[in-house]
Amino acid sequence: MAEANTGDRMEKIVSLCKRRGFIFQSSEIYGGINGFWDYGPLGTELKRNIRDYWWHTMTRQREDVAGLDATIIMHPQIWKASGHVDTFSDPMVDCKTCKGRFRADQTAEIPCPQKPSKMVSACHGEKTAPRAFNLMFQTCVGPVQDDSAIAYLRPETAQAIFAQFKNILETSRQKVPFGIAQVGKAFRNEVTPRNFTFRSREFEQMELEFFIRPDEAVEAIAGHLASAADIGQCQTALGNDQTDWGWEAWHKYWVEERIRFYESIGLPRQTLVEYWQKPEELAHYARATVDILYKFPFSKRDAQGELMGEELEGIAARSDFDLSQHQRSSGKSMTVFDEELKAAWPKLEPAKQAELKERYYQNRLQYLSKTGEAPDKAEKLAREDAEALTKGYYLPHVIEPSAGADRLALALICNAYSEDQAPDEKGKLETRVVLRFHPRIAPIKVAVFPLLKNKPELVKKAREVRDLLRPWMNVFYDEAGAIGRRYRRQDEIGTPFGVTIDFDTLGEKGPELKDTVTLRDRDTMQQERVKISELLPLLLGRIR
Ligand code: GLY
Repeated sequence: MAEANTGDRMEKIVSLCKRRGFIFQSSEIYGGINGFWDYGPLGTELKRNIRDYWWHTMTRQREDVAGLDATIIMHPQIWKASGHVDTFSDPMVDCKTCKGRFRADQTAEIPCPQKPSKMVSACHGEKTAPRAFNLMFQTCVGPVQDDSAIAYLRPETAQAIFAQFKNILETSRQKVPFGIAQVGKAFRNEVTPRNFTFRSREFEQMELEFFIRPDEAVEAIAGHLASAADIGQCQTALGNDQTDWGWEAWHKYWVEERIRFYESIGLPRQTLVEYWQKPEELAHYARATVDILYKFPFSKRDAQGELMGEELEGIAARSDFDLSQHQRSSGKSMTVFDEELKAAWPKLEPAKQAELKERYYQNRLQYLSKTGEAPDKAEKLAREDAEALTKGYYLPHVIEPSAGADRLALALICNAYSEDQAPDEKGKLETRVVLRFHPRIAPIKVAVFPLLKNKPELVKKAREVRDLLRPWMNVFYDEAGAIGRRYRRQDEIGTPFGVTIDFDTLGEKGPELKDTVTLRDRDTMQQERVKISELLPLLLGRIR
């Protein structure tokens, strides 16, 4: 819905979220705690649907992904190896006048102290020079609170996947290429949490680490790498032969797969931006990163007045950096043995063998040198790695689609929010607030209403219909108030279907309508007459 004042739109959304029980400030009775949010009854259902659908799509619907549910607190060495202890920081400045602390790149606007969803101009006082501020939350494990007890609340779920890579490989009967998925809480001590739940200090991630062969192994096995034209085909490729896919093909495939996911839960492609990070923006180990942005009402606008979008998900081609780091840091091998590579290698021309071996050597050397290995040792280790490749051993590379569940929940609410005109009880047009959620993620799928609550036959039948549907979907039963009001209450929380049990259902107007109900569509407000015996399959077909 186009609206001139996106600030107003955001205010309405924030207010609806509180009024109808989607999102509350954490610890509100004590004045709240900045950067933390609670999900009320409807928000909880929405987020659960997001997580469940992500899990369903990313693991259960695929042959090549296994799941993990790891702890939030892990061995602190994990965060040393990942780089978080040394480099996971924001530049921060202190204001000498108001004593506030800001991100150095965000001193123009800060969240309003009274209304954190609103941005206000920051103090213009003199600022200190920027200092690095590590974003990890620290805690102590055990009763002694000294340096040896320091641990961290995980700032991402990804590292547990790398740390458990070998266990999962050995127990899941998967072979590279395959992925490991995890959904769970992560924590970042953001300097300036902002934009409602968008930048929170506690949030939930949905991450996949998809492990692939290094390009040299792909080329040895397939004889070539998928060409640019083939990569175009990769976009619809589940079930296609993926033997010749190198990292570029897999990366492109996951970008498309993830955009399709967002479309399948009701975020149209035109509300999304596929942003390819520029070379200077890439993490040093990343070969390419695509951010999928959603055009939130609070997003900045470009010179043409178009919303530029904020990140929902990053899809990074991370090379073999992560497993290499954990291999070096733990001393445990993270290499895999690839039977197909071992078999293919001796069949290659010697010149091809030399070329692939040299390329692999150079890549390993580059990694080892960049991460501080002494030149002699780096060369020796890289030679050993290249030699191992010829025998079928390598460190898998990884493509990482990493999404935020809370950001997605907020995007879905923003996208669903709509106002239109609908007739009231007397036929007069009034403004109707409606959340046009895709039925797949709507918190409540169907509301069941007896037309009148003081007619026991209607109530009895309505409860029977509720109980028929309840094992299969989230049903809300409501008998209070005029039927029009009850419809409006459901429209406002995005329930896609309403079922009304009336006197026709009881057969009072003739046998042909007996045991039929009206099924109302939230968006069109059209009603159709449906047999109770056909209601369940019909609804199941529309909500999946
Ligand atoms: N694992 C990527 C991220 O947390 O952003």
